[in-house]
Amino acid sequence: MGKITRAVIPAAGLGTRLLPATKSQPKEMIPVGNKPVIQYVVEEAAEAGIKQILIITGSKKRSIEDHFDSDNELNTLLMEKNQKELHAQINFMEIKYEEVQIFYTRQKKPLGLGHAIYLARDFIGDEDFVVLLGDTIILSEQDNNYVKRLMNFHEEKKAVATIGVEKVAPSEVERYGIIEPEKIGGLSCIIKNVVEKPKKELAPSNYAINGRYVFNKKIFDELKNLKSGYGGEIQLTDAVQGLINKERGKIWGLSLKKDELRYDIGNFLSYSCAFFDFCIRNDEIKTEFQKHVKEALKKFSN
Ligand code: UTP
Repeated sequence: MGKITRAVIPAAGLGTRLLPATKSQPKEMIPVGNKPVIQYVVEEAAEAGIKQILIITGSKKRSIEDHFDSDNELNTLLMEKNQKELHAQINFMEIKYEEVQIFYTRQKKPLGLGHAIYLARDFIGDEDFVVLLGDTIILSEQDNNYVKRLMNFHEEKKAVATIGVEKVAPSEVERYGIIEPEKIGGLSCIIKNVVEKPKKELAPSNYAINGRYVFNKKIFDELKNLKSGYGGEIQLTDAVQGLINKERGKIWGLSLKKDELRYDIGNFLSYSCAFFDFCIRNDEIKTEFQKHVKEALKKFSN
């Protein structure tokens, strides 16, 4: 087991909960503040020290590749107009993360998250790797990156999988993969079982899987012959349960710290909340934006 340098970002889902916004544009390219969701996710991986990223895309997802490519026409135009700051912003990969390479492969049909991850098997080979969902943003302090902590924990414990978890309200468990924890100590626990989107009364806890994972290659053995599960999709959660059954005690959960924030861009409400939070904290617009919010609340609340 060596140092983890590779990550997979699945971004091939249909984004049906955000239709019609996602009819012809990827959910992962929807802006949150002034950047598309997937830029935050790539930056999070790069800040954790990841050097090679495989993004799983699908049809109608070409704009993801364009976003991480350089745009010579735009570069020339911005330099002609002396807009150096903007030029630097759109060339963030080359300037800030020049050591990071991005690769792409297509999932031909959105058969489920588990199916998407299985497509990464040759890219990953024998190494342990990280998965970051392309529609989830996690904000940590700059020098205390959550994904980095997950990777360090995974290596320290010689785990087979380390899964990011977060306590959610009991009313929300039906939206997530939920774990059954044992031996909870501080922010970590051993995972005894996992279940995809359980009914509230059947949920083994209210610790939800938060969209960040570290796996060793054994996950691919579980994904290989996996039948479709919840919602008719090939579920990563079912593969994790398979791993737990074979490797008891070696599948860990690690929670977010209290001050860390997770944003799920999967539905209209959670997307709206994320956009709002990014704007209300943005140095460039926050004074005016906060003023607007106060006035809007007076005007529109009933
Ligand atoms: P979601 O289930 O939240 O995304 O998957 P979705 O399927 O696009 O959403 P809805 O339910 O139709 O609204 C979480 C992540 O996994 C990716 C998605 O793109 C998203 O980033 N995913 C999901 C795939 O790459 N392939 C799939 O077959 C399913």
